[in-house]
Amino acid sequence: MKKLYIRTFGCQMNEYDSGKMADVLGAREAFVRTDSPEDADVILFNTCSVREKAQERVFHDLGRVRALKAARPEIIIGVGGCVASQEGEAIVKRAPYVDVVFGPQTLHRLPQLIARRRESGRPQVDVSFPEVEKFDALPSARVEGAAAFVSIMEGCSKYCTYCVVPFTRGEEISRPLDDVIAEVSALAARGVREVTLLGQNVNAWRGALHKDGDDGEGGDFALLLECVHAVEGIGRIRFTSSHPREMTPRLIECFARLPKLAPQLHLPVQSGSDRVLAAMKRGYTVLEYKSVVRRLRAARPDLSLSTDFIVGFPGETEADFDKTMKLIDEIGFDGAFSFVYSARPGTPAADMDDPLPQATKLAWLARLQKRIDEQAQAVSAAMVGAVERVLVEGAAKKNAAELCGRTANNRVVNFPAPTHAHARLVGQFVDVRIVAALPHSLRGEIVLKEA
Ligand code: SAM
Ligand code: SF4
Ligand code: F3S
Repeated sequence: MKKLYIRTFGCQMNEYDSGKMADVLGAREAFVRTDSPEDADVILFNTCSVREKAQERVFHDLGRVRALKAARPEIIIGVGGCVASQEGEAIVKRAPYVDVVFGPQTLHRLPQLIARRRESGRPQVDVSFPEVEKFDALPSARVEGAAAFVSIMEGCSKYCTYCVVPFTRGEEISRPLDDVIAEVSALAARGVREVTLLGQNVNAWRGALHKDGDDGEGGDFALLLECVHAVEGIGRIRFTSSHPREMTPRLIECFARLPKLAPQLHLPVQSGSDRVLAAMKRGYTVLEYKSVVRRLRAARPDLSLSTDFIVGFPGETEADFDKTMKLIDEIGFDGAFSFVYSARPGTPAADMDDPLPQATKLAWLARLQKRIDEQAQAVSAAMVGAVERVLVEGAAKKNAAELCGRTANNRVVNFPAPTHAHARLVGQFVDVRIVAALPHSLRGEIVLKEA
């Protein structure tokens, strides 16, 4: 059987797309995934260009597989994802041993691109944006475990001044309601109990209710959530990412109304300074963000909130950064992805004056991350003694005699369970009492139901 190696960089959208690459190739001929490029027949890099470092990694990694191609010219080397989307032909110019270059919206054409490469003897590049064709062309996903991702929209139309995503993934396009519900129902029928709805800004989702066009009643993301909530078998729903600008009252209300909606939200804020938010073109003020959070917590008091920060945006001062630290203290985030600002060619922020030394930015980042870790640790510590509904994923990583699963606020819990019960419990929700909070996981014990 042929072997497929995929290396994924970047966000959950890319993780999802890598799964789809395996699916489209697997629908044509049998492939097994391998962890070593050395014995692979097809080597794919699913790339990210959100920061300069992520982009550099691609050419570094490509350099390493060059020798493999020289030794076995019949292998296929492909570059997909956001660097491919931005660089296109330039990748083949710089690395002529690359066989196919494809974008996030053309990954479903991978088998044809590889076939054409073989027939023509020339590298193939297709980084176009053929609307939602991708969704229609994808084979149904393989189900691995009780939790699955479902893509509901693609792209981004927000154009924050620092960000490449609207250029690499195109404008926001929503997947029709019917299709999303059909996929969620199919997953539920195959044992999936938890779905995470995926997109760059899921709350920008807009229905055409039916595939053949809008029937005049195009819905919003709150409607989509209601419909997913109604799917039998689905016990828990998450979504990521959402944009603070589109946290509508209807959506906030969903947290009060829809019990299957997990009390967990990733709501990127980026900065706690209005001046910086305006320069980033985020479209909200700190007060507006705090107001959204206040209303969310009124709807769901146990809501766990995580976020993204960019530290050291061009022109950011110590006073701006202090405001970010203040916001962190006021909100109490339960986790954050935070990075030093990275200038991306072609974005407006790349032309802004950026006099701040990198060392200062790194020091700020360390301070911010320490504070976030403390807050997340405090949330974990406060969970000790509580009974949590846990979706059991499988054997614990470090001890096969134990099981592991995730709490509603998305923490990993390891807990002992009799071996003979493992098969029955995996893929089910069980009640687990939390007995200890470790830095990256919790320990628990199964709560036996009264007979
Ligand atoms: N669409 C989501 C949003 O804006 O809320 C996030 C998508 S973006 C791929 C993920 C994160 O990358 C952003 O929230 C931001 O913090 C970070 N990011 C984007 N461009 C960046 C840049 N030029 N430098 C540093 N971090 C960046
Ligand atoms: Fe990038 Fe802003 Fe779009 Fe998020 S909302 S993907 S940060 S442009
Ligand atoms: Fe990176 Fe593209 Fe995601 S730039 S973060 S892989 S959308």
